[in-house]
Amino acid sequence: MSSAGTDERAFQALTQKISRARGLSCESYKNKCLKRRIAVRMRARGVHTYDDYSRLLDSDTREYQELLDALTINVTKFFRNLETWEALRPYLRKLGDAHADLRIWSAGCASGEEPYTIAVLVLETLGEGRAVIDATDIDRLSLERTQQAKYPHAAFTEMPAALKRRYFRDDQPLPGVRQLVQVRQHDLTREPPPHPPYELIVCRNVVIYFERTAQERLFQVFADALAPGGVLLLGKVETLFGPARERLTLVDPRERIYTKPA
Ligand SMILES: C[S@@+](CC[C@H](N)C(=O)[O-])C[C@H]1O[C@@H](n2cnc3c(N)ncnc32)[C@H](O)[C@@H]1O
Repeated sequence: MSSAGTDERAFQALTQKISRARGLSCESYKNKCLKRRIAVRMRARGVHTYDDYSRLLDSDTREYQELLDALTINVTKFFRNLETWEALRPYLRKLGDAHADLRIWSAGCASGEEPYTIAVLVLETLGEGRAVIDATDIDRLSLERTQQAKYPHAAFTEMPAALKRRYFRDDQPLPGVRQLVQVRQHDLTREPPPHPPYELIVCRNVVIYFERTAQERLFQVFADALAPGGVLLLGKVETLFGPARERLTLVDPRERIYTKPA
């Protein structure tokens, strides 16, 4: 077999092993993304082949956590793409008019900037006590950061200063913001939604790392989990496709906002 072929076989064996040992469904992620991230860990540990890295995982089980951290890309910010949140406001207002309380899901919430952004937007648009936000992610470390909710200055560069003054103290969200957010570990590739039906699902910059079939499956899960009249917000470069595309209506192509017919 060619060395490229051997390499590919060793890569498949490694990802199967990671899936078995850690329950991470590697087959749901794009190979290009997995290879790039595994290469980061291999360089960090000074090993040159997938087989050697596989042996390293056997002898140093802490390396699994390092690998998992490398595989989950956690870049995020408060009010990331500010114009998207402005575009979402009228939909949120409409949902608030139709429901006493909203159930919202921030799926793949990283270190919490996204669910706390949603909490601020709900407080600004609808007032107090109007929503519960499920903040979920596969990555335990990110969820610990969400719970701690202590943020560096860099996390606020897109957030309007007036909102920060109103809803944060010492770079931490005020209790009124925090109490809207419920944090839990959740794997989008294998677990059902935590508390459907949802009036709003926000899943941004997560499915770009997934294989097409995993994306298609997840879009169907979102379409099922949305309440009639509910809203789905994807990331700026993410597009709904497959059977879910027939079930949801694209209402803002630029900001990737979809609604489920009432
Ligand atoms: C780039 S961050 C996006 C954060 C935030 N949604 C935003 O747009 O700013 C991607 C997040 O997806 C999470 N993620 C990756 N695979 C996941 C899975 N299978 N289930 C749940 N979350 C996952 C990662 O841990 C990471 O925190």
